[in-house]
Amino acid sequence: MIDMYLKWPLQARSVVENWGKYRVSGDFNEVVIVGMGGSGIVGDYIQVLSASTGSLPVYVVKSHLLPGFIDEKSLLIAVSYSGNTLETLLAVENAISRGLKPVIVSSGGLLRSKAEKHGLLYIPLPQGLLPRVSLPSMLYSILALLDSSGYSIVTSSEARDSVVLMEREINSGLSVVDELTKLLYRGLFENRLIIIATHTPLEALALRGKNEFNENSKIIVKVDVAPEWMHNDIVGYEALVSLKYSVVEIVDPGDTVGVKLVKFMDEVYRQHDSETYTLYLNGETLLEKLLYGSLILGLAGAKLAALRGIDPAETRSIVQYKKQAYTIFGIENK
Ligand code: PA5
Repeated sequence: MIDMYLKWPLQARSVVENWGKYRVSGDFNEVVIVGMGGSGIVGDYIQVLSASTGSLPVYVVKSHLLPGFIDEKSLLIAVSYSGNTLETLLAVENAISRGLKPVIVSSGGLLRSKAEKHGLLYIPLPQGLLPRVSLPSMLYSILALLDSSGYSIVTSSEARDSVVLMEREINSGLSVVDELTKLLYRGLFENRLIIIATHTPLEALALRGKNEFNENSKIIVKVDVAPEWMHNDIVGYEALVSLKYSVVEIVDPGDTVGVKLVKFMDEVYRQHDSETYTLYLNGETLLEKLLYGSLILGLAGAKLAALRGIDPAETRSIVQYKKQAYTIFGIENK
């Protein structure tokens, strides 16, 4: 698993080398990205990237339910590593019934069959990975599609630069991962809950970190995002019920307000016997910072699993849920 993360630059590079291979034509009003879990997070990343540089609004759907406003003027992109996630399949079927031609991004599965049946644009992902470790393939594939279709959020040269950043930072990142993992591991023996704290606009990265620790290390994690945290969560510390925390603070060092907001949070955490670790994001652009942070958090999740003697790759309870999902949704398993 750790090896799969270390190969992220290679994964990203293979998409960047083929930038421009896929495109859609159409005059769209918005981009809608549908997906769950390790695939759905790609939608969150594209949404935050587009907020600073994109020309269209980006909506993220992590559900079988599509919002009512979605119509043929929506560019809908469904991403599912396996291609078999029921919620994503149902949303795609719903989109097709509304006259849309969703773009499918998967490594195969039922979504690929659906793409073939309905003549949809299909973007293949590399086989043999796990959804969460195929983040670069999914993310860069969609960014490349949007750029080549006239709805650029990230250009090919910015994507190329971000690959160089990953290549450059991977070695020094490993010592950050070691330090962070040690703190979190020690905290588990003291019954500390892990919190990932950050400042806006990095909430998607904090969510990604939470998901990584959930799935790789099999632990519950809370996400705190400033400045919203200052308007609700903070009050919970006024009469705290005895919980102790290990806090991973994700900070963009170039964001002076963000730095001060997280410092404010840090003081509150420390007053309540918390251990904190600040992860400063390397990189120039938001894409580079998101990738750097994702790499560190993914590796830390996998290393924490190794220290706990747990297999990071296996996600038994998701498999169990997926088996029952057809019954829950009242759908016959095809
Ligand atoms: O990371 C994981 O393994 C999960 O969160 C999956 O991504 C999630 O269950 C959805 O599956 P898929 O990505 O194959 O659509």
